[in-house]
Amino acid sequence: MENRRFVLVRRPQGRPVEADFALVDAPLQPLSEGQFRIRNRFASLDPAIRGWLDDRPSYLPPVPLGEAVRATTVGEVVESRNPDIPVGATVLGLFAIETHSTGAPGGFTQLVDPALVPSLTHYLSVLGAVGLTAWFGVCDILAPGPGDVLLVSGAAGAVGSLAGQIGRHRGARTIGIAGGPEKCRRLVERYGFAAAIDYRGKDVAALAGEIRAAAPEGVSHLFENVGGIPLDAALTALRDGARIALCGLISEYNAQEPVGARNLWQLIVHRATIRGFLVSEFLPRFSEGAAAMAALVQQGRLVFDEHVEHGLDRAFPAFMRLFDGTNDGKMILAL
Ligand SMILES: NC(=O)c1ccc[n+]([C@@H]2O[C@H](COP(=O)([O-])OP(=O)(O)OC[C@H]3O[C@@H](n4cnc5c(N)ncnc54)[C@H](OP(=O)(O)O)[C@@H]3O)[C@@H](O)[C@H]2O)c1
Repeated sequence: MENRRFVLVRRPQGRPVEADFALVDAPLQPLSEGQFRIRNRFASLDPAIRGWLDDRPSYLPPVPLGEAVRATTVGEVVESRNPDIPVGATVLGLFAIETHSTGAPGGFTQLVDPALVPSLTHYLSVLGAVGLTAWFGVCDILAPGPGDVLLVSGAAGAVGSLAGQIGRHRGARTIGIAGGPEKCRRLVERYGFAAAIDYRGKDVAALAGEIRAAAPEGVSHLFENVGGIPLDAALTALRDGARIALCGLISEYNAQEPVGARNLWQLIVHRATIRGFLVSEFLPRFSEGAAAMAALVQQGRLVFDEHVEHGLDRAFPAFMRLFDGTNDGKMILAL
């Protein structure tokens, strides 16, 4: 049997192009003691993958050239030399965009129960790293409450839409920034943001004016997914003692040079705190976060969207939707 893989053949320069990747068939290798083979059903397409394609210092090594692109996947065990991971089990882990992955225990790898969810995709969205990023980012790093104003950039996306809802449930007034009128309508009507701001076509001054108008009392908590203009604008609208969770900087993932923030002076003015975080730092508490998210879903207090595309040949265009803003929810590839 063959393994069909979405392989990195060239490191992207700026925005990735299709020729940076290739679909390659490779024979399945025999398993070693302790390993198991997963038939991947779904792969999570995350903005973070873009960073893993570059050869530069980061929290994970770069994807080697000639290897399948790293991604979180969920699928069934079809062969096993590990008594703890039997054939038929469902496994979630950091593997690759390929039909078959070889797993070993440790790291993020975990057994999940398909009977607990209407769709396995939920383990890649609301109950997966995306949901946990929103949960720990809002509850642990920001901890907003009544009287606070939580501003979320990338608010219509997978992490942002959940972060806004969690903040609202904690009693904060939530304001979302997203691209285009349709997404802004969704922020208010579907995700319950008190106000929505369209960032497209606006410079820092124009966007800052809209944020200050939506939050005259100042932004007390910022969940930052984007960087660039939205971050610079938000920095000018902070309340004293504001807290910023730096979750992502998607606006510069395809930039050849870092873009940076220009209004850092405002952190001094407002005695504000900025804290970068990785969801992986909360690994020992994943089950606690997943239980909290599952409870909110069960209570009907959390809505979430998934954008599923089908087939390995859709891997590239589906991935690029994240950077064009044409994903309507958590971007997932069905394999
Ligand atoms: N720290 C962590 O552990 C962690 C974990 C997961 C995710 N993240 C970060 O969280 C952020 C959101 O990830 P996600 O998985 O939820 O993706 P997502 O928000 O579902 O999709 C990406 C969205 O980003 C926006 N975007 C893309 N390019 C942009 C640009 N140049 N300027 C402004 N907005 C742009 C688009 O929305 P618009 O149409 O609104 O522009 C797009 O739909 C990313 O920065 C990601 O790296 C961090």
